[in-house]
Amino acid sequence: MSVDLSVHLGRLLLRNPIATASGTFGYGLEFAEFVDLGALGAISVKGLSLRPCLGNPPPRICETDAGMLNAIGLQNVGIEEFLDGKLPKLVEKGATVIANVWGDTEAEYRAVVERIGDDPRVAAVELNVSCPNVVKGGMVFGNDPAALHALVAAVRSATRLPLVVKLSPNVTDVVTAAKAAVDGGADVLSLINTLVGLSIDVETREPKIGFTTGGLSGPAIRPVALRMVWEVRRALPNVPIFGIGGIETVEHVLEFLIAGANAVQVGTANFRDPGVCGRLVRDLELWCERHGVSRVADLSGTLKTRPRPEKAYA
Ligand SMILES: Cc1cc2nc3c(=O)[nH]c(=O)nc-3n(C[C@H](O)[C@H](O)[C@H](O)COP(=O)(O)O)c2cc1C
Repeated sequence: MSVDLSVHLGRLLLRNPIATASGTFGYGLEFAEFVDLGALGAISVKGLSLRPCLGNPPPRICETDAGMLNAIGLQNVGIEEFLDGKLPKLVEKGATVIANVWGDTEAEYRAVVERIGDDPRVAAVELNVSCPNVVKGGMVFGNDPAALHALVAAVRSATRLPLVVKLSPNVTDVVTAAKAAVDGGADVLSLINTLVGLSIDVETREPKIGFTTGGLSGPAIRPVALRMVWEVRRALPNVPIFGIGGIETVEHVLEFLIAGANAVQVGTANFRDPGVCGRLVRDLELWCERHGVSRVADLSGTLKTRPRPEKAYA
């Protein structure tokens, strides 16, 4: 049986639903010896800013029981070096490229998106409004629906490319943020970025991360991410979603699709196994074959929930 792995996220067409998550797969090129970049759904590259950025001083990463904490601080080569140096090589390898971008201010976000403009080498722009590891910008936008709406609207008119907005899980109500982003002009939502966490070295009584707090990623956050994808899909059934958070196996990919995602992004798992994304594409195809699923897109949003019982008192 042949399986159609392609998925549409609005105007964004992917050859399959397995993409890489920003910041965990470099600019893609670093992974070319482990994965055929042209065989992946998409590559969301390391968050790009107007100027190169050195990020936070070390230590910037530490392991946790079921994941990792990071406070890289959005280190990147800057948009010019990306467009001139990295992007042509990615295109040569047949990669579908999502440009993940950030800024300290609304004007900086807009300027970096303006620089990308309608570049046909870029499949979509992904706004990171949810980085917990910087003093300015980042999560400040993601946590304030009015600021988020204004930011997305300001950026929207700078490009005709599909606009993906990556939301923060560090909120009480993710649906409010999702609605603000969509009202501002987002075509697609990415859920989720990292959860703010803290790890302590008890001998020194110092935080294990130089920035004190860091972003928690990996298997530990998967149930939270799944819940948020499900909530947003229920509230905004027509808005396409990238599900992100702790994905390591094909069963995890399927969980996200069933919860309501149209595609997924794989992050921390790339550090453990740099070939994981290529394997997930093959495993997904095999799973669909074995289960008689001819179109992977049909799995999206098929969660069967049970009615919640009334509270019973003895
Ligand atoms: C080391 C590291 C760097 C990251 N850098 C970015 C970034 O530049 N932009 C962004 O939107 N998300 C960034 N993220 C968040 C991931 O893209 C992803 O949303 C998060 O790690 C959850 O997925 P995971 O559990 O599969 O890693 C980063 C995550 C890690 C672990």
